[in-house]
Amino acid sequence: VLVNAKEMLNKAMKEKYAVGHFNINNLEWTKAILLTAQENNSPVILGVSEGAGKYMGGYKTVVGMVNGLLEELNITVPVALHLDHGSYEGALKTIEAGFSSVMFDGSHYPIEENIEKTKELIKITREKGISLEAEVGAIGGEEDGKIGEGELADPAECKRIADLGVTMLAAGIGNIHGKYPANWKGLNFDVLAKIRKITVDVPLVLHGGTGIPDDMVKKAISLGVAKINVNTECQLVFAEATRKYIEDGKDLVGKGYDPRKLLGPGFEAIKAKVKEKMVLFGSVNRA
Ligand code: G3H
Ligand code: ZN
Repeated sequence: VLVNAKEMLNKAMKEKYAVGHFNINNLEWTKAILLTAQENNSPVILGVSEGAGKYMGGYKTVVGMVNGLLEELNITVPVALHLDHGSYEGALKTIEAGFSSVMFDGSHYPIEENIEKTKELIKITREKGISLEAEVGAIGGEEDGKIGEGELADPAECKRIADLGVTMLAAGIGNIHGKYPANWKGLNFDVLAKIRKITVDVPLVLHGGTGIPDDMVKKAISLGVAKINVNTECQLVFAEATRKYIEDGKDLVGKGYDPRKLLGPGFEAIKAKVKEKMVLFGSVNRA
């Protein structure tokens, strides 16, 4: 059964590791991530953007697929199904559909409006035992087609949102979605340390996990990051493995065109990438 993300993240923060949030796009993605979590005895968060939810047919389809896999693949590690960068309406819809965790991304609203909407969602999610992620300071790069600049969150604003009682808090610290440009300045650990100091107990979330150097990831975890979001890196390795299969002409041999074969290398590539991240984040054997 799905669980919310509260317990797994509080444990991670206390024991100084991070739980991986991996975005899903389809059955292969979901199965690869769940099996890897089980094989490594690691808790895991499945992230679903509104765009990906729509792509998969709708939120109820996603919930049905994930619950079916949990049961039939005998997944016993803690798994949360989480709306990624949700709107207020998207949060309501996913709660209704059976998600165990939601992110309300109000970072593009003025802070007062972000606070108001986050507050309302705290009421709703608390009643239902669902965890809630809020965001302060927009993450740069591409979020479902919207391109924005990276921001540094204001620690005082982070405190105001954290004090509302959110389960976890995403704060912009120079992180960007997608690949990092060559001239990227790196994560801003001064801002992260200030946010940590002022928000005390809230597990912090690091978005844009793709391409952040390992030493920066470890330092971020030491400063209170307990959830790290990875999306693009899985997409890149999937595309690369699939391209190689086709370029090698394997789809032209025997029944190599069968999707169960054609998507195999991409599936294995996602598994390897997720394992690599779980080892880096320190979540292996923490289930
Ligand atoms: O919310 C999703 C993540 O922040 C993913 O970022 O695509 O750079 O790994 P990424
Ligand atoms: Zn993100």
